[in-house]
Amino acid sequence: MCGIVGYVGNRDPKFILYEGLKKLEYRGYDSAGIALLQEGEIRIKRCEGKLDQLKAALEDPHFYGTPLDETYVGIGHTRWATHGRPSEKNAHPHQAGSIALVHNGIIENYSELRQALEKKGHVLHSDTDSEVVAVCIFDFISQGHSLERSVFLAVQELLGSFSLGVISQKDPQTLIAVRNGTPLILGVGVQENFIASDVPALLPYTKNFIYLEDEEMVIVQKNRCVVKNFKGKEIQKQIKKINWTPEMIDKGGYQHYMLKEIHEQPQAIIQTIQDRVSKDRDTLYLKDLTLSENDLRKIRKIFLVACGTAYYASMEGKYLLEKMTKIPCEVDVASEFRYRDPLIGKEDLLIVTSQSGETADTLAALREAKKRGARTLAICNVKESSIDREADSTIYTYAGPEIGVASTKAFTAQLTVFNLLAIHIGLVLGRLPKEKAKVYIQDLVRLPITVEEVLKQEKEIQKIAQKFYRKKTFLYLGRGTSYPIALEGALKLKEISYMNAEGYAAGEMKHGPIALVDEDTPVIILAPKDEHYDKVISNLEEIKAREGIVIAIGCEGDTKLSKLSDYFISVPQRSENVMPILLTIPVQLIAYTIALKKGTDIDQPRNLAKSVTVE
Ligand code: F6R
Repeated sequence: MCGIVGYVGNRDPKFILYEGLKKLEYRGYDSAGIALLQEGEIRIKRCEGKLDQLKAALEDPHFYGTPLDETYVGIGHTRWATHGRPSEKNAHPHQAGSIALVHNGIIENYSELRQALEKKGHVLHSDTDSEVVAVCIFDFISQGHSLERSVFLAVQELLGSFSLGVISQKDPQTLIAVRNGTPLILGVGVQENFIASDVPALLPYTKNFIYLEDEEMVIVQKNRCVVKNFKGKEIQKQIKKINWTPEMIDKGGYQHYMLKEIHEQPQAIIQTIQDRVSKDRDTLYLKDLTLSENDLRKIRKIFLVACGTAYYASMEGKYLLEKMTKIPCEVDVASEFRYRDPLIGKEDLLIVTSQSGETADTLAALREAKKRGARTLAICNVKESSIDREADSTIYTYAGPEIGVASTKAFTAQLTVFNLLAIHIGLVLGRLPKEKAKVYIQDLVRLPITVEEVLKQEKEIQKIAQKFYRKKTFLYLGRGTSYPIALEGALKLKEISYMNAEGYAAGEMKHGPIALVDEDTPVIILAPKDEHYDKVISNLEEIKAREGIVIAIGCEGDTKLSKLSDYFISVPQRSENVMPILLTIPVQLIAYTIALKKGTDIDQPRNLAKSVTVE
């Protein structure tokens, strides 16, 4: 979704803003722009397309910031179109009279506001909801209000979600930022302060951050920041230090972030497990889980809610939790859960899973469940994100920053956390035999090395995958815990290669998808040696009987599977709990290889956004 960066300080912000926007590219965008104050006037450069185009525009020697009393201000934006197609006129910043504004979110009452402003004689130039906000603020300024007061009055009129950054010719040493429903953070520097949609934009400049809450606005100046709520009351905020480094958000020599992040999975799993496993590997320490044994005993049902890849991780979570804790689980996509009047109450636990911690539907589902009295737990990768802050407790996936739009290491880290959680609760409730738990924990501890072993087969997997980049349709099939991986494999391929791929429970094949199978259809079959193995083999035979091309992913040494399939990719055989993680690596590499061969924009696929902060 849209990315915002803003600056007030003692340096020309032109390239600080540009570099900040570069770090937010992963959010997905289709146009970009920057506004500065030059000799007391607002100057804007914006364009449709990628940041390279904006960079070319910024090279204009006549476009630069000038200070007033050694203070520069500027705002920048990457736009992910919601209202109005991607174009220069719809790109941000939007200027209205003496102010310029950037916006992330959706203004639900923009058309009423637009009509009212036009009636007053204002002329709007774009098709966006964002320009309406700029004009609304300017309207208050025209009535004689200060910049701060005008922003304050304007936000009272807005319905929907919005983060804003506003600069003004009349107040050239101030930037006003607003957060309501979409993320915005404040970076605190020395003689300079920043705003951004996310931490990576500001890591080269500061490690000190203030996390804004909804309905807060901040008056940002070079040497101070004053945060107020929407009632005008000043709020004291804590500065938090972050331990991410700029190197963590580099490509580290890989061609794409996605490939780097696929290779970072062993490390992500190590970080997620370490300090949570006892020395003799029979106990887990989940300090972040604030539910006591008594609380856990009282849980009637667990609801697992998330979006996209995190939803597939939640499907795995259901298998694991039901098996080990015997607590009934229900899984839902957040956009359905939040609107379906869910039967959740105070005897239930909601587990939301989110890499970013900012997904609008997941956040709304969390709020809905809290409203109904449920206990809430988040599995999340980003500390201090909205979901982290609002859930009763959070178990972190320590995957490090995930920049590639297609989620990889966050997914396997989520599966790792579900393993830890299910084993832990199973042990606490005495529903998982200790000996069994020890085997599971042992396999989790060995998991990073096992994942490394799968990654070593990268070349062979690539050789197989690249044969299929011209195919039209792919099927992914699996049963039991392999079913969510079939869904995830299909989603990965769809997202980054724009090819049609469908994931199915293999048992559903006869109820429709088999009609797609012919000699031109690659079918990726996940067939680990588990209790479903024989049934999956029957499905494989049915596909072969219809001349489908079978790429099987199964356990090392499975000669039967290898013989029956056209192509065979093997992973080490481990306990059923970690098999989904091992099967994930080949499906990620298959999607990556096919997209690479097709030449798509792997890290920022068209139309997609990393952090979906609007519903
Ligand atoms: C797929 C992908 C998305 C996200 C989904 C939820 O590769 O990345 O499907 O999984 O948008 O995002 P988070 O986990 O940030 O809530």
